[in-house]
Amino acid sequence: MSALYIHIPYCKQRCIYCDFYSSATKEDKKDYIDALIQEFKERKSEVKEPIETLYIGGGTPTTLSKEEISYLFKHILEEKELYNLKEITIEANPENLSKDYIEYLKNHTPINRLSIGIQSFDNADLITIGRKHSKEDAILAVKQAQELGFNNISIDLIYNLPQMDKEKWLKNLKTAKDLNIQHISAYSLTVEEKTILHKLIEKGELTLAKEDEQIEQYDLTITYLTNNGFEHYETSSFAHLNTETDNNTSLYRSKHNSSYWNNTPYIGIGASAHSYNLEQRRWNIANIKEYIQKIKNNLPYYEIENLSTKDKYNEYIIIGTRIKEGLNLTQIEANFPPTYATHFQTQIKSLIEKNLIDKNHTNYRLTQEGEHIANTIAIELMR
Ligand SMILES: C[S@@+](CC[C@H](N)C(=O)[O-])C[C@H]1O[C@@H](n2cnc3c(N)ncnc32)[C@H](O)[C@@H]1O
Repeated sequence: MSALYIHIPYCKQRCIYCDFYSSATKEDKKDYIDALIQEFKERKSEVKEPIETLYIGGGTPTTLSKEEISYLFKHILEEKELYNLKEITIEANPENLSKDYIEYLKNHTPINRLSIGIQSFDNADLITIGRKHSKEDAILAVKQAQELGFNNISIDLIYNLPQMDKEKWLKNLKTAKDLNIQHISAYSLTVEEKTILHKLIEKGELTLAKEDEQIEQYDLTITYLTNNGFEHYETSSFAHLNTETDNNTSLYRSKHNSSYWNNTPYIGIGASAHSYNLEQRRWNIANIKEYIQKIKNNLPYYEIENLSTKDKYNEYIIIGTRIKEGLNLTQIEANFPPTYATHFQTQIKSLIEKNLIDKNHTNYRLTQEGEHIANTIAIELMR
C-alpha cells in the first residue's frame, strides 16, 4: 500500500507553540487548491502500490469552505489511483465544526475519520496557548460529530503545557476518556525555536514543569489511558482497544500514521509537504505564493535527498524506539549490511543490562524507564 498527504497551510491565527508551516492569510486559496490538484495529477504515477489512506492536514484544513473541499475532492477522486482509499482523515478545529459543517463532511465527502485539534480542556490554558475555542466548544464538536455519525474520531491533546501539573493533566485525560472517542494523540509540549512560546519562556513570562514532573505526566498518560481501554501503540498515540475482538492491536490505530512508521511510501502534496519513496525524501517549498507560481510555471518547487544505507538504518532506529512493535533484529539483518547487525547487537546488550530495553524473541522494545530517555537510546543504537 501507499499513502497520500495533502497540506492545507491556512490557520485563523498561529498558536504560540506551533512551527508547522501555515499562514493566516486567506488570499490565493483557490489558486492553492488548483495547484494541489495539478501536483497530484502530475505525481500520481509515482505511486506503485494502491493508495489506501488520505490525510488532509495543516495548518487547519477546516478553514476551507464546503465549496472548496468539494472542489478539491471532485478533482482528485476522479483519479483511479484513489479508488482504493480505506481511511480518509481530515484535521479539524473545534471552532470550525458547526453542526452544518460536520453534516456536510459526513454526508457530502468520503471523509471517515476526524482528527480534532483540541489540545486542552482547560479554558485558561487554551487562552494561554492562543486557541480560538473553549472546552465547551471542543466537547460539543465531538458530541455533535458522534451524533451525526462519525465513528472514528481522534483528538490531539498536549501535556507539559506551562502551569500544567499532574492533577490538571489527569482532568484533561478524564474528560477525553468520557467522550468515548476511538483515538487520542497526546503530545508532550516541545518548545520550538522561533515560536512565541520560546520567546515567552526566554523572557520568563511562562515556565515549564521540571524534568521529573514532565516524566510523571508522560507516565500518567500511559497508565491512565491503558487502564481505560486504550492501546499505547506509538509514543504519542493511543487507540481504543476492543479486547474481545481486537487481539491486542486496536482497529482504531491511525492507518495513515502507521504507514509512516511501517516504511510505506507516501506522497505529500502542497506547500511544505514531505514525500518518501523508500529511496528518497523530498520536501516541497514552504511558501504558498512560490508554491503556486512554480507549479503553474512548471518550475522546480521541491528538494530531494537520496537516502544512504546509514540514513535508512538511522530512521529505522528512530521509529523503532517509538512504536509498540519495537526493533527487529531479523529485519536489520535482512535489510542492512552485516556490520549494522553487529553494531546493533553490541549496543543492545548493554541497554538490556541497564533494563532500558526488553527482548521478546527477535524484537526489542523500550521499557517504560527506557521510554523516558528514548532519544538517548536511539542515539546509542544509531550509526
Ligand atoms: C499540524 S498540527 C494540527 C493543527 C490543527 N489545525 C490545530 O490547530 O489543532 C498537529 C498536532 O501537533 C501537535 N503539536 C503541534 N505543535 C506542537 C508542539 N510544539 N508541541 C507539542 N505538540 C504540538 C498538536 O497537538 C497539533 O494538533
